[in-house]
Amino acid sequence: MQIPLFDLQRQHDSLRTQLNAAALDALNSMQWLLGPQTENFEKEMASLLGVKYCISCSSGASAIQLALMAAGIQEGDEVITTPFTFMATTSSISLTGAKFVFADIDPQTYNIDPKDIARKITRKTKAILPVHLYGAAADMRGIMALANEHGLKVIEDCAQSLLAMSQGVKTGGIGHAGAFSFYPSKNLGACGDAGAITTNEEELANRCRSLRHDGRNKDKEYEHDLEGSTLRMDEVQAAILRVKLKHLKDWTTARQKIATWYEYGLQGLPVTLPTSLPNNTHAYCVYTVRCPNRDKLQVYLKENGISTAVYYPVPLYRQPAYKHLGYRKQDFPVTETACQEVLSLPMFPQLTEEEVMYVCECIQKFYRK
Ligand SMILES: Cc1ncc(COP(=O)(O)O)c(C=O)c1O
Repeated sequence: MQIPLFDLQRQHDSLRTQLNAAALDALNSMQWLLGPQTENFEKEMASLLGVKYCISCSSGASAIQLALMAAGIQEGDEVITTPFTFMATTSSISLTGAKFVFADIDPQTYNIDPKDIARKITRKTKAILPVHLYGAAADMRGIMALANEHGLKVIEDCAQSLLAMSQGVKTGGIGHAGAFSFYPSKNLGACGDAGAITTNEEELANRCRSLRHDGRNKDKEYEHDLEGSTLRMDEVQAAILRVKLKHLKDWTTARQKIATWYEYGLQGLPVTLPTSLPNNTHAYCVYTVRCPNRDKLQVYLKENGISTAVYYPVPLYRQPAYKHLGYRKQDFPVTETACQEVLSLPMFPQLTEEEVMYVCECIQKFYRK
């Protein structure tokens, strides 16, 4: 049996006719930017997430950058974030001119630990940027309490957490703003790059709308109130995303069902399953376990036709691009261990029970060898 980590083909095949029609309509509308597709997509996303505003943009990275800029983050400011994330989290902070500062993660959820955030707050700290990694919400109670105490902005990196919840509230609606990615392999994937910002604050929303459109005044095309950039989502992507958005709840339920199959199939093994904090709901963008002998297990699964991935093998403070910052790995012991032990198993809504059981049987064979 061959089992991919994620299979975009199966999803695409099931929606091919609707996707082709939607893309063609947007193409022939001759309105390729900021037209009815993006406008309706924004309304539908906002309603699904229970937030007042959604502003579409060109990628998850640009969503983070725009949200930070709209929140007033600039050169001289510090933004506290996790080192156990994708590079776009920190590169987007740097693009605002601000400096990112790392806090270590919690060993259960792999998300930024409020206790370490508290130790990293300085006079220059202006924002906290938690990442809801793998689809599990960070400790938003702890983070919001710190933010309120110190007057900080909270921008949630929701690239992996669409429809994940914390205490009954969907991620992206808890902090001052949320940044979503619609990279093809995400829970809602475009056919290319796309992203969005969510917020309940009108002024922040207006600033995002202007900043993604070169800082234009909304009524005067060649008057620029802000210095922004060209970071809009295009109409064809919005049309495609609207087709898929209708299936998102069902796909998320399917992911959660698949997680229960893994829980059953991996019982009794020395494998730590993904968890979320009490009263939180996991969106399983990826299904990541922690396991001994990780590299050998990964090779064994590959030999048996199963694709897996390590998100992330190298923490950001050890990336060549950040060598000059002089971070020391002993400062982040929890992140260091996670990098050695995590392994993401196949996870996508169309995965069958038979396939999941095959993955579990192979893992059982590996540990019982
Ligand atoms: C945690 C995280 N943040 C940000 C991004 C950036 O999103 P995009 O690739 O759409 O720019 C990603 C995408 O992989 C991500 O996983």
